[in-house]
Amino acid sequence: MKTSMGVYTILLLCSSLSSFLILSIATDTITMSQSLRDGETVVSAGGSFELGFFSPDSVKRYLGIWYKKISTGTVVWVANRETPLADTSGILKVTKQGILLHLNGTESIIWSSNSSRSVQNPVAKLLDSGNFVLRDGNDDKPENLLWQSFDYPGDTILPGMKLGINMITGLEWYLSSWKSTDNPSPGDFTYRLDPYGYPQLMIKKGSAVQFISGPWNSLTFTTYGFRNRSPNPIYRFNFVSNQKEMYYTSEPFNSSLVTRVVLNQNGIIQRFNWIDRTQAWNLYRTAPIDDCDSYAICGAYGSCNSVDYPECECLKGFVPKNVADGSNKCVRKMQLDCQNGDGFIKYSSVKLPDTRSSWFKESMTLEECKLVCLNNCSCMAYTSLDISKGGSGCLIWFGDLLDIRVSTENGQDIYIRMASSELGKKGHLLNDYTTEDQELPLFDLTTVAKATNNFSINNKLGQGGFGPVYKAWRLYIESRPLEIIDASLRDSSSLLEVLRVIHVGLLCVQRFPEDRPSMSSVILMLGSKGALPQPKQPGFFNEMNIVEADSSSCKHKPCSANGVTITVLEAR
Ligand SMILES: *[C@@H]1O[C@H](CO)[C@@H](O)[C@H](O)[C@H]1NC(C)=O
Ligand SMILES: *[C@@H]1O[C@H](CO)[C@@H](O)[C@H](O)[C@H]1NC(C)=O
Ligand SMILES: *[C@@H]1O[C@H](CO)[C@@H](O)[C@H](O)[C@H]1NC(C)=O
Ligand SMILES: *[C@@H]1O[C@H](CO)[C@@H](O)[C@H](O)[C@H]1NC(C)=O
Ligand SMILES: *[C@@H]1O[C@H](CO)[C@@H](O)[C@H](O)[C@H]1NC(C)=O
Repeated sequence: MKTSMGVYTILLLCSSLSSFLILSIATDTITMSQSLRDGETVVSAGGSFELGFFSPDSVKRYLGIWYKKISTGTVVWVANRETPLADTSGILKVTKQGILLHLNGTESIIWSSNSSRSVQNPVAKLLDSGNFVLRDGNDDKPENLLWQSFDYPGDTILPGMKLGINMITGLEWYLSSWKSTDNPSPGDFTYRLDPYGYPQLMIKKGSAVQFISGPWNSLTFTTYGFRNRSPNPIYRFNFVSNQKEMYYTSEPFNSSLVTRVVLNQNGIIQRFNWIDRTQAWNLYRTAPIDDCDSYAICGAYGSCNSVDYPECECLKGFVPKNVADGSNKCVRKMQLDCQNGDGFIKYSSVKLPDTRSSWFKESMTLEECKLVCLNNCSCMAYTSLDISKGGSGCLIWFGDLLDIRVSTENGQDIYIRMASSELGKKGHLLNDYTTEDQELPLFDLTTVAKATNNFSINNKLGQGGFGPVYKAWRLYIESRPLEIIDASLRDSSSLLEVLRVIHVGLLCVQRFPEDRPSMSSVILMLGSKGALPQPKQPGFFNEMNIVEADSSSCKHKPCSANGVTITVLEAR
């Protein structure tokens, strides 16, 4: 018998019904002379993966691959997803023509691989990567494979698998969810590299887009959901685009990490890592992670911020079209005037919009990119294509901008086309991002408190992704104002004064300028003990310890009363 290197497993299966004794030998290889029957398995040389017949619902039989060393029976690939067998008569054969045939008890073809050519000595081998390959027994070269399971993913990506498109053969590597946990036939969801415009990863339900990763920026996709740190310390991400193929891969730096990415039956992409100590899969990351990850939830020119309520706001220079019906349409305050000159406003730290109608070029500077965009009236925005090494290349968008969200972790700058009359304006900054030439008054609560009778703001406020001002406001309106202040200082005799300063501070940073007290009221409020209005939600905040406030009070000069100083910082 012709067998290559492999793990030899002796399986003794006693059939209680017929009292036949079946002896079978499993290796990592199936040859023309040695087929695989239900009950037998092949195991990869390093013992990582096993291929054989299994039954997720205890009735229907499927041919598949699962982790050998992992007791949870995690299946990573299924051959006959849509054509299960009703019994254990299945058999897998390698034919002279160089194809794999999965036959049932009456020799009907249940599933088959295909191949562009035939070879002398075809062998099927399960590799330790989890890839099941068909090749010429005398030819080890990966590029000469006749067929490989990695080309036909199910719901799982293993390290080394590609997500993308082979432009020569038209083959697409993409994930499709299982119908349910016990039914591997393709469900509603797919996860693919969408090649239109500038490529981006996309989860779809049928033809409806559910989630977009944002474009690749040389380090990562700009998505918020993945929470990739750039560069990620555990995985190497790679995006390849050339004449032949376009694909995305990810693999752990340490190849002994057992990791997989799954598109589950609810359309959620999840990365799991196996933890030996606990003998369990650990969910490392997931996408989408929140409402803001729902595709275009805030509509064109809307921006989503998950720590805000409501989450959707119009970008600077845009206003809600119809406030009454609560719809998310944002329209320009000032119409563009392309012929007579528009300009751009820079928005920082955003997940870039859907790039399906975009154009890009690697060899271009940002300044050249701006000119290209300016000279085409349907260009609505531009940015750098590659943010490594200080930024290079050009990516421009045509038509409405969709699917923008605030992303402090992986966000990128984008320059959005504006009527020239919008450009020089100062003032309104609610829900807005930093604009190129503006000086913003910044109101720093920490500074306020430090300047006040030596009190300090609770350090914990700055933790966990919410801005400290937002947290302070939440605690205040939830009648938990003491938690804003350091525990050690809560018994102080000046506590009431401090709380009053914080209260007035929160009034000064309310979102709408018309709600904020005037300078003279601030002085009166700080000097008296009268009742104060409840502070409304603060304006746009981010993860830095600052809040951007508008100019109606405390602008450009410190305002002080009764020895209490409120410090107003200037940005840049
Ligand atoms: C094999 O499949 C064929 C076609 O689906 C079917 O007619 C036949 O009954 C099956 N045989 C067994 C043993 O299941
Ligand atoms: C090979 O089979 C797959 C389905 O398993 C099919 O989508 C693909 O078009 C086939 N390719 C060729 C070259 O026949
Ligand atoms: C890779 O991970 C294994 C298991 O956690 C560890 O023993 C090994 O030292 C790691 N190798 C490197 C190069 O970090
Ligand atoms: C602007 O770009 C669009 C999309 O690429 C193109 O169809 C159109 O011809 C361009 N217009 C000009 C004036 O270059
Ligand atoms: C402020 O408080 C700290 C710690 O309680 C103390 O060490 C420091 O001397 C105080 N500063 C003033 C100016 O009272």
